[in-house]
Amino acid sequence: MNITMIGAGYVGLVSGACFADFGHIVTCVDTDEGKIARLVRGEMPIFEPGLDELVAANVREKRLAFTTALEASVPGADAVFIAVGTPSRRGDGFADLSFVYAGAQKIAACLEGFTVVINKSTVPVGAGDEVERIIRELRPDADFAVVSNPEFLREGAAIEDFKRPDRVVIGTDDPRARDVMSEIYRPLNLNQPPLLFTSRRTSELTKYAANAFLATKITFINEVADLCEKVGADVQDVARGIGLDKRIGGKFLHVGPGYGGSCFPKDTLALIKIGQDHSSPLRIVETVVAVNDARKRAMARKVIAACGGAVRGKKIGLLGLAFKPNTDDMRDAPSLAIVASLAGDGADVHAYDPESMAQARSLMPEVTFAENAYDCAAGADALVIVTEWDVFRALDLERIKGSMRAPVVVDLRNVYRPADMRKRGFAYVSVGRE
Ligand code: UDX
Repeated sequence: MNITMIGAGYVGLVSGACFADFGHIVTCVDTDEGKIARLVRGEMPIFEPGLDELVAANVREKRLAFTTALEASVPGADAVFIAVGTPSRRGDGFADLSFVYAGAQKIAACLEGFTVVINKSTVPVGAGDEVERIIRELRPDADFAVVSNPEFLREGAAIEDFKRPDRVVIGTDDPRARDVMSEIYRPLNLNQPPLLFTSRRTSELTKYAANAFLATKITFINEVADLCEKVGADVQDVARGIGLDKRIGGKFLHVGPGYGGSCFPKDTLALIKIGQDHSSPLRIVETVVAVNDARKRAMARKVIAACGGAVRGKKIGLLGLAFKPNTDDMRDAPSLAIVASLAGDGADVHAYDPESMAQARSLMPEVTFAENAYDCAAGADALVIVTEWDVFRALDLERIKGSMRAPVVVDLRNVYRPADMRKRGFAYVSVGRE
């Protein structure tokens, strides 16, 4: 199949590279000339494990190319994916669809022969109808079908998620489009993921419902963790105890400083807005968003409490800034709220993250950036594990303790064991455990 991918961001680049690896011929198009120039040189605009090798291999095999010239790529394509950003619109939380609709307009002008136009961007219910209307209005003669095919990949595990998905959701009522989509995903047959064919609107809502449900699961266990701390229970065991029930499932029950990232915060807000607009409010999701926002600030208070109630003039070292490991993404990272609170209370905040410091520098001007975890801990009055990068899982704790001013560790990801840490002489605070 000949595929054009509009948008060489996270979803577009990973999907484009993976489709090419399946054997399709893929052209990734982006309006950002600098980004395309970097990609042509083999430089990745994002940090995603394995992506550079996958891109290089498929460029070498001439199955993957990058261009700004949409008009050269769309006419020969069997399928054109729209994978552009849908950020939260300032003010009302509604997904900003201007990039999606601009893409639809440009595609319309270039369509030749039967073409399937697929929305991979996360869009509110009914956006596919609008894409269809835009193209139909500009090109009444064009032969096309608009399909919804949301992406469920996680940053840091995006290639694996793309190649071994739990399911592929495809929203279309058009039999020809269904055949094209089946052919595009045929290489997945070996792994036998269900291809779920449904209506376009159902597919659009499924993406939001999935992300809102996962955000709810995380927020639920985080609140249970708070209760565990009050009643002397262990949230790790509670999570395991409920997660072994197949109806609940063990995933996304890991406690932490609250969810962040490019999807959950944006998609929960957008779903709330859709519900309000249709007089069908999603009160559970509204509460999840409020609880998660409050939690990020509460984590700073946890650090302050561990420091004896005040951090003014104290050196606090943060290990990890990205919203989760294996990404350099700082979007809605809990570290942003934690740093703002600690610095606001007069702390001297130092931080180290293996990948996100370049991004973090401009977002956190008050922070001093360290060379590594040990540099970050040296002379600190408290060390806070904010993101559970592998390099923080087996630190030389003797060395850390010896270099700190006070051996206080606040572990917001429950990486270490309380009994071990106490035995080693740390004042150790974690989440939802004694
Ligand atoms: C998410 C969805 O998982 C993915 O299907 C969707 O397409 C995009 O949004 P992503 O944002 O990359 O992916 O990361 P994910 O691994 O889901 O984590 C999101 C946030 O939740 C992170 O801040 C993470 O630390 C937090 N989280 C996740 C927890 O606090 N506990 C968990 O058990 C799982």
